[in-house]
Amino acid sequence: MAEIIENSYYSIYIDNSLQTLALYLDQNKANFSKYFILVDENTHTQCIPYLLAQVKVLQEASILEIDAGEVNKTLKTATGLWEALLENEADRKTLLINLGGGIVTDMGGFVASVFKRGIPFINIPTTLLGQTDAAIGSKTGVDLAFAKNQIGTFAHPLGVFISTTFLKKLPERELLSGMGEVLKYALIDSEQLWNVLKNQELNPKMDFDVFVNECVQIKNNIVEKDWYEQGRRKILNFGHTIGHALESYSMSKGSRSILHGEAVALGIIMELYLSAKLAGFNNEIQQEIQQYILDNFALYPIDKQDFEPLISLMRKDKKNNDSNIAFVLLEDIGKPIYDQFISEDVIINALKYYAQL
Ligand SMILES: NC(=O)c1ccc[n+]([C@@H]2O[C@H](COP(=O)([O-])OP(=O)(O)OC[C@H]3O[C@@H](n4cnc5c(N)ncnc54)[C@H](O)[C@@H]3O)[C@@H](O)[C@H]2O)c1
Repeated sequence: MAEIIENSYYSIYIDNSLQTLALYLDQNKANFSKYFILVDENTHTQCIPYLLAQVKVLQEASILEIDAGEVNKTLKTATGLWEALLENEADRKTLLINLGGGIVTDMGGFVASVFKRGIPFINIPTTLLGQTDAAIGSKTGVDLAFAKNQIGTFAHPLGVFISTTFLKKLPERELLSGMGEVLKYALIDSEQLWNVLKNQELNPKMDFDVFVNECVQIKNNIVEKDWYEQGRRKILNFGHTIGHALESYSMSKGSRSILHGEAVALGIIMELYLSAKLAGFNNEIQQEIQQYILDNFALYPIDKQDFEPLISLMRKDKKNNDSNIAFVLLEDIGKPIYDQFISEDVIINALKYYAQL
């Protein structure tokens, strides 16, 4: 049975068999002139066969493939896709189906939202991170000069179709990266979810359906009240101010890039430190969560010479004011506060704290 989670713009179907997608396409076939499926090379081989077996009408779709990886989430890749759509005579009734992780859904949503001033698209997220976070909430975009998500749009998919069957093919490191965002949801919204997490070791055999369901509900509730991030939606950025900087920095260095969810988990270590210093977060619980992260995620080592470039990346964040950098802090689990503008010297203390772990 499909679980359907709705908001004012679209429905999110959690249905492992994808039969709700087959039905949706059948009921709406008059609205679409043709179908394109956007994939990267991994979702091309690992996910297309299941999709086409479950949703036969998509066997007639054209497939567009991009190279996998955050370094390809660029305007250059987007331009290639717009050219391919044009060459293949896509029109305003063309449906773009984004089949992949957060890179594919961010990229595909962006490409669709501006091609011919907007064509319809749907998201079929295939990573844990995509299913719990990236594919819902209607943010699309690409990176610019290694700075994350600098070019983008708010654009609503027609629907999001989630099948956790795809996760069976996902590499273990990617699954655990997705758990970085799951941890974020627990800390900003659900002590109960944190209790579930802390009492089991992260492993690829966990019941991800439970996490997907819970996180989709949490995110949907938050974005529904603040689509354009004027206020409370900002709490979804907990762990991301420093996390995004670490992710971009590791990418620009090229030696050992860290994954988005890994960067968020490491960002949480530092943003919890700041929460304990500045927002009264309980020190013991801070240590407990930190230990959980250290037990489950590899550290990305930094030292003194990395502090300035990391701060410089944080300054590029879209949510800052003139002199200080915007953070989400926690007063307690489930009690986030946003628009906490913090000076650089205090942030450096958090980086120093992390560097000595
Ligand atoms: N728009 C948003 O609200 C939002 C929220 C969170 C994250 N994001 C973005 O999401 C991106 C990260 O997403 P991600 O972690 O899904 O990364 P990703 O899209 O790079 O996917 C991870 C890897 O797994 C492969 N893959 C995907 N599905 C697979 C499957 N079922 N089986 C085998 N391999 C598979 C991909 O090819 C890729 O190599 C970042 O760019 C981040 O900024 C966006």
